[in-house]
Amino acid sequence: MSVLDERTAAAVKDRDAWEEEAENWVRFARTQGHDAYWYYRDSFFDEIVPPPGRLTLEVGCGEGRVTRDLLSRGHRVVSVDGSMTLLQHALRSDPVRRYALADAGHLPLSSGSVEVAVAYNSLMDFDNLADAMAEIGRVVAADGVFCVCITHPMQYTGGFDGDELEAPYVLSRPYFGVRRFDETFTRNDITMRFRGWDRPMEEYFAALLEAGFVVDAFSEPRPSTDEGRYARWHRFPMFMFLRAIKRHTEDQVRGRDRSREIG
Ligand SMILES: C[S@@+](CC[C@H](N)C(=O)[O-])C[C@H]1O[C@@H](n2cnc3c(N)ncnc32)[C@H](O)[C@@H]1O
Repeated sequence: MSVLDERTAAAVKDRDAWEEEAENWVRFARTQGHDAYWYYRDSFFDEIVPPPGRLTLEVGCGEGRVTRDLLSRGHRVVSVDGSMTLLQHALRSDPVRRYALADAGHLPLSSGSVEVAVAYNSLMDFDNLADAMAEIGRVVAADGVFCVCITHPMQYTGGFDGDELEAPYVLSRPYFGVRRFDETFTRNDITMRFRGWDRPMEEYFAALLEAGFVVDAFSEPRPSTDEGRYARWHRFPMFMFLRAIKRHTEDQVRGRDRSREIG
């Protein structure tokens, strides 16, 4: 698979929100130091992502910065996204060019073909988390891993009451429940509208378990700088990282037991 898969173009309809924001996202994501990615990515790659295996999948790759970072760390990567415009930007910036236009709920990969799957800040954008998780569970091989970064659900419940370093973090909205978010940010002439889903942690963990994963690493990372606007994110979590391992199915376990008996 080396080109955009036109057959999955129908799936892009649901991804209109990201398609509309695609050019804004390219500026947002590619302006060095503009967003939190630059201050959190090293700990994600160092602590959560395992060494390269046969094939690594990024789900929700956008314009491709995480994929490029995986490639530079030796991974053989195939990446999917629901936005054609973002994939075109990704294709133009990556000599390897293994991208597919697809919905996370319908991945164009065969079962068990992936050893490492990565979803960096994309799970909260998927309309149907359970479908996406089940698909990722299908394509990841037994003992393969799924590495995730998600906006920390605590962020949706409130915010800092003031600009100073020690400003209190005020919880003003309910934590439980699934709600649509729709927020627009402008900084340094870059405007970006984010639309997605606020979900409590238990939703993510339940979907992972249902898809056959067990969580083997979890962290609430601190930014790599304690300067400027990131200083106060040493007091409260902006993201959560986790790594989950795909369990063997009962049939696989039974097969293993039988081969032990025979051996
Ligand atoms: C916040 S961006 C993250 C992009 C990239 N992982 C990064 O960190 O730079 C979320 C991406 O998820 C994609 N996306 C949202 N819903 C999707 C879905 N159901 N299937 C595939 N991609 C989806 C969007 O098009 C967008 O590129």
